[in-house]
Amino acid sequence: MRAPSTIYLYELAWILPSVAIPVGILAALVVTAFGAGIHLPADHGRVDPTKVAQTAPFDKPGLLEVGPGRYEVRLTGQIWSFTPNQVRIPAGSEVTFVATSRDVVHGFFIPRANVNVMLLPGQVARVTARFDQPGEYPYFCHEYCGIAHHVMWGKVIVDPAPEFPRARPPEGPSSHGDEDEGEGAEDKDK
Ligand code: CUA
Repeated sequence: MRAPSTIYLYELAWILPSVAIPVGILAALVVTAFGAGIHLPADHGRVDPTKVAQTAPFDKPGLLEVGPGRYEVRLTGQIWSFTPNQVRIPAGSEVTFVATSRDVVHGFFIPRANVNVMLLPGQVARVTARFDQPGEYPYFCHEYCGIAHHVMWGKVIVDPAPEFPRARPPEGPSSHGDEDEGEGAEDKDK
């Protein structure tokens, strides 16, 4: 007959980690959620999935400047494309994507940025990312959505920030560089 104390130690070796691991996971959840502010993409409203193209803000998809260096992109996914399928912003911009699907379940994934959401029909997703490095940031549908799922993509083009021009030959054409003095001046042209 085995000594009871041997069994007790053996059980204890299992019981302690089985308590410690969930407690550790719970502590990590609390710290990331309340300390670091990390959370899952949440519900940011709904629109009638049959009338997405007629419902604000998705009736005017595209890029919107909402402040200095801050942009909003109203984006829809539909078989098998994104609208808009190209977004151009200066480096250092903070971009909030407000997105939904017009038909079936799609995904919106920017591998080079911290953007990864599902696009559910009529459910509004909202995700914000910073784009500091100039370059191209392709985005993809990463939820299988049918025969042409693999061609459903677009890209964010990040131009070098105008405030910090890169060293370049002076003959480089720049028609936009001198128009930043005032927004009021632009209104007279319309
Ligand atoms: Cu849309 Cu895959």
